[in-house]
Amino acid sequence: MRESDVDAVVAAEQCIYDFPWTRGNFTDSLKAGHSAWICSEATDLSAYAVMMSVIDEVQLLNLSVLPQHRRRGLGSELLVHLFKAARGHGAKRMFLEVRAGNEAGQALYRRFLFAEIGRRRGYYPATDGREDAIVMMREL
Ligand SMILES: CC(C)(COP(=O)(O)OP(=O)(O)OC[C@H]1O[C@@H](n2cnc3c(N)ncnc32)[C@H](O)[C@@H]1OP(=O)(O)O)[C@@H](O)C(=O)NCCC(=O)NCCS
Repeated sequence: MRESDVDAVVAAEQCIYDFPWTRGNFTDSLKAGHSAWICSEATDLSAYAVMMSVIDEVQLLNLSVLPQHRRRGLGSELLVHLFKAARGHGAKRMFLEVRAGNEAGQALYRRFLFAEIGRRRGYYPATDGREDAIVMMREL
């Protein structure tokens, strides 16, 4: 992901999430040197992801596939790409947080052998209050 991709990514983010990342979240991530990726064919953005490295661990901050491109293996492909990139930086474990009500996300992560290691109560804003985060981890 480059600065020139951020317009398309922000537009996608707003269409995917009730509580989207802002433009500033993406540009700050790029400035901070986070590992940020997009999948696209010509100008058709289909998926993107951002992860942060901290010593020998990585935190998956965002993994998103545009609705019209889902269930075609793109989320899986991008995740496998992130595993390789993380291992290339010497990471041993990947952590992530996912909304307790996000069945698609949890199904994807369980399929890739992420295990639930904790919960953060009321971590996320939700349309009807707050929602728990499930914390997951996978050895790399
Ligand atoms: C979660 C998400 C990234 C999955 O992307 P995707 O490209 O559709 O995923 P894949 O096609 O690689 O699916 C791989 C497997 O994950 C599981 N899965 C994916 N979507 C699912 C769904 N809606 N319901 C149940 N299982 C699902 C299935 O096991 C699937 O395998 P199958 O299609 O052979 O059954 C996508 O739905 C998305 O962007 N959702 C909104 C953003 C989001 O929730 N991101 C994760 C937040 S942490």
